[in-house]
Amino acid sequence: MLATVLTIAAVLVCVLSLVIWRVRTNADWALWWHDNYLERIRDFLTGTTRPLRILQHVQRSAKQGDALSVITAIDSYCSKVEWAMNVGDKKGEILDTVVLETRPRYVLELGTYCGYSTLRIARLLPPGARLITIEMNPHYAQVAKEIFQYAGLDAQLPPISDFPLPSTPPSSCLQAEQNAMQSACHQRKWRLQEALIYTTLHCLQLPLQLFARTPQYPLSPSSLPAQGKSAEKLPTGHICKVELLVGSSTVLIPQLKKKLDIEKFDLVFIDHWKVSYLPDTKLLEECGLLKAGSVLLADNVICPGAPDYLKYIRNCPRYRSQYFPAQLEYLQVEDGVEKSVFLG
Ligand SMILES: C[S@@+](CC[C@H](N)C(=O)[O-])C[C@H]1O[C@@H](n2cnc3c(N)ncnc32)[C@H](O)[C@@H]1O
Repeated sequence: MLATVLTIAAVLVCVLSLVIWRVRTNADWALWWHDNYLERIRDFLTGTTRPLRILQHVQRSAKQGDALSVITAIDSYCSKVEWAMNVGDKKGEILDTVVLETRPRYVLELGTYCGYSTLRIARLLPPGARLITIEMNPHYAQVAKEIFQYAGLDAQLPPISDFPLPSTPPSSCLQAEQNAMQSACHQRKWRLQEALIYTTLHCLQLPLQLFARTPQYPLSPSSLPAQGKSAEKLPTGHICKVELLVGSSTVLIPQLKKKLDIEKFDLVFIDHWKVSYLPDTKLLEECGLLKAGSVLLADNVICPGAPDYLKYIRNCPRYRSQYFPAQLEYLQVEDGVEKSVFLG
């Protein structure tokens, strides 16, 4: 009897160790564990969504009207409590540096989520700059808007009617949109069986989080790069205008010139679904939204990865491209960002 119990315990410990090791070192496992399994459990147990939990944490712990405090609160929550797909603090520093080097006047962000990277960019822009951010999931967009308001950003959500949808949006885009909506809006129907399995597995969460968590970075202004610190001293009133568009980038990009009176973008932060990186980059070229010197910064080019985008941007003579190695947000899995200058 004792031998059986010991054998079962040993097998369980081995399985748990294997899972911990894979989640710590393997990109697919890490994403599945944090972005799928744990998120669903928390959604199920709390009856909320991850963006809402991030918003609640911001409202509880960040200083109102202070963008840095909101960024710090999100980083703290996502590294200590619940992983989320923000660009994160480490790659965020690379983003900060590129923004400060480029000094853009017109910025486009593809993929807003809760507005973390939007805040990072906005706080570093010069007065009068415009930052247009596109998010296809209305629930995420609403949370982002509330986070912007809490951080003291002058955020606008232009009416969706200003951006009419074409009668036949691309099917891949519709599919992705539906998937995101389903997960965020809790339209998924939980079967009892599924719920029981997830709840039982939940007991793995605590030990795994204990081991899989990134070591804590000092989440203070001192963790910002030197240039970031000086830009941070700008009073809130200097923070640029943010225009949050709700819809698919593929549909909205061709409308930007006419509807928002934008000529060209100085900086584009590409951080939406990875399959859209390449088609949307080509769309930006076709729509004449890039000029010589425009900078594209693409996140997650290694994890989850955008191989077709990397192949194109590194081999196309119209771009000069550079890779910045880093780690997946809040984890120790390899990832990186690609900075590409459009040569005209
Ligand atoms: C990685 S998250 C963005 C994270 C955000 N940039 C940050 O660092 O805080 C990707 C977001 O892109 C959105 N998205 C994906 N494909 C999109 C598309 N084609 N058009 C607009 N939004 C899209 C998703 O709904 C998701 O919220």
